[in-house]
Amino acid sequence: MAVTLDFQDKVVIVVGGTSGINRGIAETFAGQGACVAVASRSQDKVDDTVASLLKAGASKAIGQAFDVRDSEAVAAGLTFFHEQLGDFDILVSGAAGNFPALVADMSVNAFRAVVEIDLMGTLHVMKASYPFLKKPGCSIINISAPQGYQPSEAQGHVGAAKAGVDQITRVLALEWGKEGIRINSVVPGFIADTEGMKRLSASEESLAVSIDYTPLNRLGEKTDVANMCLMLSSELAGFVTGQVIEVDGGLYLRGSSLFGKALGDMLRAQKT
Ligand code: NAP
Ligand code: COA
Repeated sequence: MAVTLDFQDKVVIVVGGTSGINRGIAETFAGQGACVAVASRSQDKVDDTVASLLKAGASKAIGQAFDVRDSEAVAAGLTFFHEQLGDFDILVSGAAGNFPALVADMSVNAFRAVVEIDLMGTLHVMKASYPFLKKPGCSIINISAPQGYQPSEAQGHVGAAKAGVDQITRVLALEWGKEGIRINSVVPGFIADTEGMKRLSASEESLAVSIDYTPLNRLGEKTDVANMCLMLSSELAGFVTGQVIEVDGGLYLRGSSLFGKALGDMLRAQKT
């Protein structure tokens, strides 16, 4: 039997979809003729992304600026998307914040900021979207990170938040499965030309280590992550839910603790 991936006119929402990996996901669905909505804090980035989605082939593209930490603003934004596009076939939640900092050296508010964006933001998106999800049939994808399972120095805030994201993924797979909603986490490895890499692995030397450390011996591309999102949202993955899926060139097999140690050593050296 021939398998076709058909996303024409499917309603795809990408929260945090205005740059980097998440924008790559939005543009990939747009290239398949989907109706795509994106959100992030910056109206300029939203407008720029909407223009690029239309150029990429989206049958419709809209966007709205909101901060995922504000549950009321998230609910209003997702209600607007539903009014404009109808029930959601695919929901991607990927807004995130990151900076390297040792727990002893960061303020409680710094830790809270990342937990509020990554974990509470994901919760806000899940809860506000629930009435609008196509039942049965919706595919939800939460964008997670290796720090969620691999303790990494200077990444305590991100690790705590992303571990929570993965557990929400598993719990909602149980709670929403009977309604025909599938939900999975996708864990990118080291992805080229992204804000995350710029913040954590900016130097040429550190990039070379990241490549060497990755079994497939290259950085990932945004399309590598987007292609997994296409697959997970297709009938090919119709019996897959509650999974945390690495798109990392095999990094998972080695763990990323060496990488975390290098970050920790760098910050400690800066103090002396
Ligand atoms: P990025 O370009 O900074 O993307 C983050 C997106 O989230 C942007 O669209 C940003 O737009 C939005 N955002 C941030 N804070 C927000 C808030 N409070 N409310 C609403 N939107 C918000 O970063 P990236 O490196 O591509 O990372 C994308 C995702 O992949 C993240 O979930 C990250 O944890 C994960 N990841 C990345 C890598 C990597 O190699 N880069 C590796 C593992 C996991 P605004 O600034 O306009 O709000
Ligand atoms: N080290 C230690 N603490 C830091 C920090 C750093 N590099 N950067 C920010 N903080 C602290 C701030 O000092 C503040 O704490 P305080 O109130 O005790 O001073 C707290 O974090 C919040 O910072 P603020 O700049 O007010 O938050 P914001 O809401 O404007 O921005 C961030 C949130 C900090 C996560 C910001 O980096 C961001 O918007 N990131 C989005 C993009 C991104 O991180 N992409 C990569 C995804 S992998």
